[in-house]
Parts: sequence; structure tokens; C-alpha cells
Amino acid sequence: EGVTSLQLKINGTVRSIQAEPRVTLLDALREYLDLTGTKKGCDHGQCGACTVHVDGRRINSCLTLAVMQQGKEITTIEGLAQGDALHPMQEAFLKHDGFQCGYCTPGQIMSGVACVKEGHAGSDDQTREWMSGNLCRCGAYPNIVAAVREVAG
Ligand code: FES
Repeated sequence: EGVTSLQLKINGTVRSIQAEPRVTLLDALREYLDLTGTKKGCDHGQCGACTVHVDGRRINSCLTLAVMQQGKEITTIEGLAQGDALHPMQEAFLKHDGFQCGYCTPGQIMSGVACVKEGHAGSDDQTREWMSGNLCRCGAYPNIVAAVREVAG
């Protein structure tokens, strides 16, 4: 299988990589672009650690090929903060201890941002439902929900 040139717009900047067409978006981020904030848990769409936004909607980056995401706006955890100012969801995770080991946190935060933005944080139950694809082995769920609740206002 041949290597091809891919252009990906990530956090506002177009980046080029040379990769095989079968490379997932997750591997493109981590292995080709050194954007290791996006985590690989299961690599099979079951844990949510790899959650990023594509054109403002969350996706599991392990379940899509990088080649399919050309021309779209990809946002990773590295793109959330504005300079020194953390995103409100990042601040809320700090305030409410929304993590323990931290491995699932980037995915949780990306899902949490989408949860509020897309109007799925109307109640804790709604938030839990929306966030149910993001697993936390430490069991920080109540604090994660508290963080989302705070941002949802
Ligand atoms: Fe993509 Fe687990 S690594 S859902």
C-alpha cells in the first residue's frame, strides 16, 4: 500500500503528513503530528479516550481514517485553551477534580465541551447519557458530571 500526502487542518493550522491511506485520525495525530494529548485506550470505539471534534461535532478519532477528514476543521485537546487561558471546561475539571489518573481526561473534556455546546447538558441524567461513551476506570464520574454542570450553568 502506497504512502500518500494528507492535509489535515488541526487547531486552525493545516498540517501535511505522508502516510498510508489506512492510517486512522488518532494515529495521524499521535504518531505523525506529535499531538499526544488525544489518547488511545481501546482503538475500537469503546472508551472515548480518543475523542476530538470534527467540524464542531465530537467523534472517536480511532474510528475514522485521516484521509476522510481532509478539508474539515479538526480540534484536539491541544486546541481548546486560548493562549494561557484554559477553556472553561478545563477550568471546571480542575475545580471539581474531574480526573484521577488523567488518561481519559482529554476525551472527557472534548465530550463535555460538545455536550454543553450541543445542548445535552440540561440535567445530570442527560449529561451522563451523552458522556456514557467516555469511560473512566478511576470512577471520577460524579466529578466529571459536576464539571459539565458548572459549564452548562
Ligand atoms: Fe477510540 Fe477507545 S481509543 S474509543
